[in-house]
Amino acid sequence: MIIAIDGPAGSGKSTIAKIVAEKLNFRYIDTGSMYRSVAWKSLQKNTALKDEDAVADIASKVQIELVPGNNGQLVFVDGKNITDQLKVEEISRGAAIVAAQPMIRKIMTTKQRKLGKQGNVVMDGRDIGTVVFPQAEKKFFLDADPKERGRRRFIELKEKDQAKNTDLSIIIEQIVQRDHEDRNRKIAPLKQAKDAMLIDTTFLSIDQVVKEIIKTINPSS
Ligand code: C5P
Repeated sequence: MIIAIDGPAGSGKSTIAKIVAEKLNFRYIDTGSMYRSVAWKSLQKNTALKDEDAVADIASKVQIELVPGNNGQLVFVDGKNITDQLKVEEISRGAAIVAAQPMIRKIMTTKQRKLGKQGNVVMDGRDIGTVVFPQAEKKFFLDADPKERGRRRFIELKEKDQAKNTDLSIIIEQIVQRDHEDRNRKIAPLKQAKDAMLIDTTFLSIDQVVKEIIKTINPSS
């Protein structure tokens, strides 16, 4: 069974997808971390992120391993644990740039389909229900007010001590900008699949969203 959870940054999808996967005993795959890994590796190699051929070469060779950890998914790139380096703004921006390029998406989509074929996964991203697994058994699209999404992101950065001197209004602006790019790119834009269930998480707790999703997947629970 494949459960697709898509939505914009800060909609709660990663946190929720992880808990849903734990409850169902499914594998959790955060596809955003794959685009982030490609951006990270490209920056390490001083490759211009808009140089599609060069980034595609990196994307096709890089080894990305997603390993379940105590506190979410760990990301190893070419054997190195880079989990904590992936959430910074430079990488968020970089991921959106590489994710807009057709060659990179093709490589990532193939990797994601391979992972999905292992069965019983909860996969989160932007195009899982529309492009990667249009035939997924269950699809959800999470959304929330941009101010609330910014606030969540701000708290997350503070907890990791990565907020530096950035204030909330700048984080909201960055989130709105990245959404705009994700929603308006030509290939695999962020959008709700026709058969996805929309959940507005603005005023909902994590627990409430998880319950709603589990109830939909397994009505007898
Ligand atoms: O989910 P996360 O914020 O980690 O994703 C980072 C970026 O990667 C997104 O802003 C988007 O541009 C890209 N992405 C994508 N398709 C996915 C997952 C992420 O285009 N399935």
